[in-house]
Amino acid sequence: MLVFAHRGASGHEPENTLLAIKQALAMQVDAIEVDVHLSDGELIVIHDRWVNKTTNGQGKINKLSFKEIRELDAGKGQQVPTLEEVLATINGRCHLNIELKADQTVLPVLDLIDEAIIKYNFSYNQFLFSSFNHHLLFEIKSIKPELNIGALTASCPLTYAEFAQHLNAYSVHINIDFINQKFVNDAHQRGLKVFVYTVDDEDDISEMHYLGVDGIFTNYPTKSLVKIAHL
Ligand code: G3P
Ligand code: CA
Repeated sequence: MLVFAHRGASGHEPENTLLAIKQALAMQVDAIEVDVHLSDGELIVIHDRWVNKTTNGQGKINKLSFKEIRELDAGKGQQVPTLEEVLATINGRCHLNIELKADQTVLPVLDLIDEAIIKYNFSYNQFLFSSFNHHLLFEIKSIKPELNIGALTASCPLTYAEFAQHLNAYSVHINIDFINQKFVNDAHQRGLKVFVYTVDDEDDISEMHYLGVDGIFTNYPTKSLVKIAHL
């Protein structure tokens, strides 16, 4: 099973910060997952539409300027990073799952990815784009069919794997509360990888292993890597 550091190694460092990214790299994860919004045309890495939960500020991202957001403390004195800073920090050392949280992110992300290939030692197949907004995934595939997309769902509708196959997805990303053997088998038969979030508990890791899932998103990468090595 692959290990995705969820929002970076967010069980150890403030989520979606460069500290969490560096910690995940030090833990030698297979991939890092980050959440992406847009502020004044800049791609920024933060989970919510509001800054309240993860910074010392208040307000909605689209009501604040990029400069105002960059002045906030995202934990341990960290700024809310730009996606470009995340790419520069990873510098091609692991895979990156970019979860698009906002409209209008596709074109700037694709431009940045083209740059990252040249500047930061990435290859296209190191990127996996996911979103709960499947219109954005469809848009990515329409523009650059060679890029991998992961269909993200909070639940697990019976026909979801079929839908993801029609989207030409590489993977389905499913909430752990809804995963079951029938779903895993169906996705695999359709040629889809199954990645499950968020899996921190050791018993859950064992269960995912026995279900045959292909990867887990975890806030505690080292604990998960050690547990997987002993399965
Ligand atoms: O990509 C998996 C997971 O991160 C999706 O949910 O809310 O943590 O972004 P959320
Ligand atoms: Ca996410």
